[in-house]
Amino acid sequence: MSRDVLPKYPKSVAPIHAEDARAVRVRIDRWRAASRLTRAGAQPVHGMFGLSRALRYRASRSLRALRRILVHWVDVAGLCAAFVDRAVNIDRRLSVAPMMDWTDRHCRYFLRGFSPATLLYTEMITAAAVTRGNAPRLLAFDPEEHPVALQLGGSDPGELATAARIGEAFGYDEINLNCGCPSERVASGAFGACLMREPQRVAECVAAMVAAVRIPVTVKMRIGVVSGARCEVAGALAGFEADDFAALQQFVALMRQAGSQAAIVHARVAVLGGLSPKENREVPPLRYDVVRRLKAAMPDIPIVLNGGLRTVQSALDVLCWCEGVMLGREAYHRPLFLGQMAQALAPQTVMPSREALLMRMASYAERQLAAGQSLPAITRHMLGLYAGEAGARAYRRLMSEGARAQGADAQVIRRAAASAVHAGGSAYEHSR
Ligand SMILES: Cc1cc2nc3c(=O)[nH]c(=O)nc-3n(C[C@H](O)[C@H](O)[C@H](O)COP(=O)(O)O)c2cc1C
Repeated sequence: MSRDVLPKYPKSVAPIHAEDARAVRVRIDRWRAASRLTRAGAQPVHGMFGLSRALRYRASRSLRALRRILVHWVDVAGLCAAFVDRAVNIDRRLSVAPMMDWTDRHCRYFLRGFSPATLLYTEMITAAAVTRGNAPRLLAFDPEEHPVALQLGGSDPGELATAARIGEAFGYDEINLNCGCPSERVASGAFGACLMREPQRVAECVAAMVAAVRIPVTVKMRIGVVSGARCEVAGALAGFEADDFAALQQFVALMRQAGSQAAIVHARVAVLGGLSPKENREVPPLRYDVVRRLKAAMPDIPIVLNGGLRTVQSALDVLCWCEGVMLGREAYHRPLFLGQMAQALAPQTVMPSREALLMRMASYAERQLAAGQSLPAITRHMLGLYAGEAGARAYRRLMSEGARAQGADAQVIRRAAASAVHAGGSAYEHSR
């Protein structure tokens, strides 16, 4: 699909590479200003040498040509620098996992309030839905969500490349391919964890996406895949043999060769056929040791570990030997954990009070309601703000039943903010 036929993205979405274009414009303006100064200073020099009119004319034409070449060079160099910046500037130390039906745009906006730099992933969206469905509805997001990565599901290189390009046009900072989801429906559509058995095919998909976009492409995976009923795979889950490790290593190496900039590894085996998606996140044992061995065997490949991280200390321990940690359920159910992590990684991060977090969400809800969204669609992601504390139940009731009541509007969230004032102190202090 050529850039010209890409769908128009909605106004609420930052235009593609707006910051790159700005950076280039600034560079060009600076160069132009400098070149004006040079020209102003050059005129008396011409006079001093007493060049003939014809010579001065030729000299000024040559200078203009040179200037054109330089402007072009500045343009190209600026763009290259800007894109290189985009690639290396993604801070992968802390990210929030893609979670279907959970990490939608409202959830991501809410979580952004706790941590300004965390990389947020969308829920998985299939490449077919992006290319053939209502892309603006599926992909629109608020500029405050940056940095935000789009997770795609699929196994057709051409379709994935087109979807990746559309995602880039919508302003996403990274495209991620799902090779970790074990659901039956997904396996029958030939994507998700079953793709780990087809490394060549996945490499083709990654290479096609890398060729289609200028933003980073990454892959999220499990440490391996087994098939069968729970009792049949018990033995396979208990151990992780040398050939299992070799297969994982080969998969990661192929993805890297194809252009993937990081391997995001959910440190569990996926069981296809025998466990539900929920069980697949709980039953197979966590194997951080396998991911650590992988990192030791492939030190040049950025690795992000995912799975079971629930405390700041455990996440910081993991960060001693790999590039990043990805938080899933804990960040969703207890978002203050995200704030704690953000502060542990950047101590200057100021954690807003709960009142401020809620007032921010009330303003957001007002804008979203005006755009036709429903209040419960927003507040359902905010239930964990008081997790494990006094007042949590009343707050949850307000955010769920209160938000569903007839005529409810953003005032519901403001009422919760008013109670937060009485609670006093910063949200972060409360969560410790
Ligand atoms: C409700 C839910 C939906 C999920 N959907 C996706 C998904 O769309 N894509 C994906 O790669 N992983 C998905 N996952 C898996 C998470 O990204 C993550 O790998 C898993 O929850 C383990 O991390 P955690 O222990 O920190 O939660 C989902 C998890 C949950 C709980």
